[in-house]
Amino acid sequence: MSYPYQITSLAQYHEVYKQSIENPEKFWGDIAMHFRWKKHFDQVLDWNFTEPKIEWFKGGKMNITENCLDRWAETQPHTPAIVWESNDPEEHHRSISYKELLFKVNQFANVLKNNGAKKGDRICIYMPMVPELAIAVLACARIGAIHSVIFGGFSAQSIADRINDAECNIVVTADGGYRGNKEIPLKSVMDEALIQCRSVQKVIVLTRTRTPVSMLKGKEVWWEDEIKKVETAGNPFCEAEAMDAEDELFILYTSGSTGKPKGVVHSCAGYMVYTNYTFVNVFQYQPGDIHFCTADIGWITGHSYIVYGPLSAGATTLMFEGIPTWPDAGRFWDIVDKYKVNILYTAPTAIRSLMSFGLDYVKHKDLSSLKVLGSVGEPINEEAWNWFHEHIGKGNCPIVDTWWQTETGGIMISNLAGITPHKATYATLPLPGVCPLLVDEHGYPIPGGDASLAEMPKQTVSGNLCISHPWPSIIRTTYGDHERCRQTYFSTYQNMYFTGDGCLRDVEGNYRITGRVDDVLNVSGHRIGTAELENAINRHTGVVESAIVGYPHDIKGQGIYAYVIFSGVMDDKNLITQDINQTVARLIGAIAKPDKIQFVTGLPKTRSGKIMRRILRKIAEGDTENLGDISTLLDPGVVENIIRERL
Ligand code: WTA
Repeated sequence: MSYPYQITSLAQYHEVYKQSIENPEKFWGDIAMHFRWKKHFDQVLDWNFTEPKIEWFKGGKMNITENCLDRWAETQPHTPAIVWESNDPEEHHRSISYKELLFKVNQFANVLKNNGAKKGDRICIYMPMVPELAIAVLACARIGAIHSVIFGGFSAQSIADRINDAECNIVVTADGGYRGNKEIPLKSVMDEALIQCRSVQKVIVLTRTRTPVSMLKGKEVWWEDEIKKVETAGNPFCEAEAMDAEDELFILYTSGSTGKPKGVVHSCAGYMVYTNYTFVNVFQYQPGDIHFCTADIGWITGHSYIVYGPLSAGATTLMFEGIPTWPDAGRFWDIVDKYKVNILYTAPTAIRSLMSFGLDYVKHKDLSSLKVLGSVGEPINEEAWNWFHEHIGKGNCPIVDTWWQTETGGIMISNLAGITPHKATYATLPLPGVCPLLVDEHGYPIPGGDASLAEMPKQTVSGNLCISHPWPSIIRTTYGDHERCRQTYFSTYQNMYFTGDGCLRDVEGNYRITGRVDDVLNVSGHRIGTAELENAINRHTGVVESAIVGYPHDIKGQGIYAYVIFSGVMDDKNLITQDINQTVARLIGAIAKPDKIQFVTGLPKTRSGKIMRRILRKIAEGDTENLGDISTLLDPGVVENIIRERL
């Protein structure tokens, strides 16, 4: 196994980047030749950003699972595809070879078919981090059903909203899941969600915790029973559905600046080519390496760099069911040691949290197998970067700081491990085929901000980050609402994809992401829309109005600060705070609970009634001296009150 398109030197990176910009169609067309097609494509790219319409590898027919499974099962059947570490360090690990994984995916694909699944159906997957989650995802792709994976931490209401938006007809879940010393009752959360979901006809339930669950005859079936039926029927093979390159592969919901999460849609071929290309190049994967991405498959990082990127490259991907701090804060290092992990891809929030436990948990662990470290999800601060580099990488491992988004499908800006230089807190250079540029608030390009031009900035410049040309795994639409996709990403600036991030560029051309410039918070690497959270809080009885802002948080990166006007009886502030938290957990999920709730009598508003978030943000940050001009406020007096009672 080798990757002819793996970049192996800095000079080659610059050369390849140049070619990719000059002739993107030739560039991606050549790379796409290294995949398995059922029918070759006729046209590499057809696009405009005004509708938007983006079509890659048009006319091509393929199935991503043949590229992730069949081709490797033929050439390296015994190579482990998935290695799984349980939540419980004592439970025996599992290793599933390519041959076995192909077999299991085929089996479950037949289970889906037996339960009425067809090409184009939307299937909701709500499962713990066990290999069957990956198997369910791949089985959907095998038969051409569109998977919508929902992170196990979301509440019944969030699940119902997502199932209804996509009109899923099948749900795949488990009785429960383990997270540290907790058991998560997945099936009963799903039961509560399903009361609101009329489209669902079948629920397939995997046994994981063997916690008692309700099972309705005719509608709800056990995973294990269904597999037995397929076994009894004989031949478990399931022919991979021939998918058009642009057929939808999956939907993944993410928060934006409006109240309702949106279903980001990715299509088959472009997503496959791009996640594979970035996996191979950013991490510099070598045959035999163990790749450990610590994300959950419920997020885009898990989709792209636990499942599709590594498997399409014939790699060994390590899946971990548990959490970094259980049984103790040395768990990641135990795993690295146990499996001789070569590539560790994690999030700054995890690094900061583990850092806070001190070096005792790292000391006697053998981390010498590590070659490459990676960071994703939020800006990494210098202290965390240095700790990761020194104490985990022992000064020998490049750190890839990978900037990308649910909407981009794969890594967009990052150094290539050991090939292009790393620089603490910088994502550094764009991947081949990616054209980042910085614009000011009116959409004018900032001189020196555009990577596709030779011009470097004379000093560090800053602006809003846009991308001027499509790449293969760009978002195709927001499910069921194409106009929303256009408005959110393609209308702020003409003929550009707008990322929602602010960004700097230094004189050497390195990019540094500074954080969201819209109303989206990034809390422990999770995206939380302020409007969505305000809606949830406003539904709590007694709440009149609320405003959410982010503030710097040592571990989470950003913390959630809620200002709440409450008209109910204020018997005990502490209890009401907890009540509001319960409402948030019920409507969204525990990940969205505010860190601080301040009860206020009024919010700073302009005469036209707009909340001045800038002021609230400053107060939450503790910067009460520099509030700027507050004379335009309807009632400047509220500001004083808020400052006085600041938490
Ligand atoms: C942020 C996660 C700084 C950014 C893959 C982006 C980052 C949002 C980085 C997307 C990074 C992601 N440095 N910020 N390396 N990576 N972000 O959709 O604000 O969960 O817009 O995708 O995370 O979050 P999402």
